[in-house]
Amino acid sequence: MASAGNTVHGFEVMYGMVNKAVEDMVVMHHGESVWEQIKAKAGVDVEVFMSNESYSDDITYNLVGAASAVLNVPAEQILIGFGEHWVLHTAQEGYGGLMSAAGKTLPDFLRNLPNFHSRVAMIFPKLRPPRFECSDFTEQSLKLHYFSHRPGLAPFVVGLMQGLGKMFSTPVTIRQAEAKDQGADHDVFDVSWTPAPAA
Ligand code: HEM
Repeated sequence: MASAGNTVHGFEVMYGMVNKAVEDMVVMHHGESVWEQIKAKAGVDVEVFMSNESYSDDITYNLVGAASAVLNVPAEQILIGFGEHWVLHTAQEGYGGLMSAAGKTLPDFLRNLPNFHSRVAMIFPKLRPPRFECSDFTEQSLKLHYFSHRPGLAPFVVGLMQGLGKMFSTPVTIRQAEAKDQGADHDVFDVSWTPAPAA
């Protein structure tokens, strides 16, 4: 059966680099033994995640759920932390060239975000990326529209924005204006920032 993206027999899958990044974040803050506890609780018996291989989305969701239980932190908080980690460590350290080519300031980067994953897809051809759109631009704000095949990841987007704010040393505020899990067509975020000091 032909498949448009990273889907195997109707199940969503994603690249192992995501699970590797979850592992990296947990080990960095809590150590190896906590990571082993989280994996056991999630029922995941994968020894080593391979960045370029596909794994069921269930593994990632189960790891986030288990991390929430073991660390006693709400899953939303884990996803926010993961978004920051993704930008500041996974993306910046592993794909610095892609990140710096996408913009020199936070607003530039956000304006380019709708095209970002098409570059990523050159490295990861089976990518099933989210879709982003920007609207209502002002000097200091925009609306970010997030369309996803996957449920429940809005807090991840909040964390990604916070991570970008840190990456550009630009204080950023992000507020969810519309939520798909509350009946909206898609998630919408109001993103605003403090202008960078004049060069
Ligand atoms: C070079 C840096 C990046 C790489 C290599 C990358 C790669 C990926 C990969 C592999 C996935 C999992 C989807 C799949 O495997 O089919 C993903 C998902 C995602 N990425 Fe990126 N990404 C990067 C940067 C970003 C940035 C900067 C943002 C936003 C600020 C972002 C937002 C997302 C979101 C929200 C998802 C969740 C997927 C969904 O909603 O379906 N990513 N990305």
